[in-house]
Amino acid sequence: MYVWPCALVLAQYIWFHRSVITGKRILEVGAGVSLPGVLAAKCAANVILSDSAAMPQCIQNCSRSCRQNHLLGVPVIGLTWGEISPDLLDLPPIDIVLGSDVFYEPKDFEDIIVTVRFIMERNPKAEFWTTYQVRSEDWSIEALLSKWNLKCTNVPLKMFNADKECLAESNLPGRHSIQMMIVTLDMDKLD
Ligand SMILES: C[S@@+](CC[C@H](N)C(=O)[O-])C[C@H]1O[C@@H](n2cnc3c(N)ncnc32)[C@H](O)[C@@H]1O
Repeated sequence: MYVWPCALVLAQYIWFHRSVITGKRILEVGAGVSLPGVLAAKCAANVILSDSAAMPQCIQNCSRSCRQNHLLGVPVIGLTWGEISPDLLDLPPIDIVLGSDVFYEPKDFEDIIVTVRFIMERNPKAEFWTTYQVRSEDWSIEALLSKWNLKCTNVPLKMFNADKECLAESNLPGRHSIQMMIVTLDMDKLD
């Protein structure tokens, strides 16, 4: 029910790469208010929004964001991390998965990664664009990514003008420590 600071940073990355994402098939997971997905749809990507199947009010929120932003025909589905559901199995081909501030509860980290890995199994060239708010120095997803044969590239915020406390006239990023990562299949490990 809230736009999280990470969403501003991921939206800035999408805006910076708007010419690349036009026409791309994009799934946002844990979308909540859906700022990155809504922006991607406005940039002419084919977007599907998703949030936990167990939280109907969050799914309704995704739909409400679309309506408020005059976006018609953006599918919204229930997709719970770690669950192989009919909606996950029925997904069309995907080029980019978006996830803003989905790594906020360590007990969920592996479930998110399993969902992303499942999607990449079917879409080996897909990329997972995710922003992560550093809440504890003790938390890390690197070991889990390696376990699931995924690799991660950190994108410095200054590369897309997001190293600021205020983005797009919003003070939300503030002094939060936020990282932008691109996760892909680790082809070297799959050979
Ligand atoms: C911190 S909020 C981030 C929301 C939005 N992406 C943003 O950055 O503004 C985390 C989101 O993950 C969703 N979520 C929590 N547990 C989930 C689960 N098990 N499966 C799918 N989504 C989940 C929540 O409903 C919420 O929308």
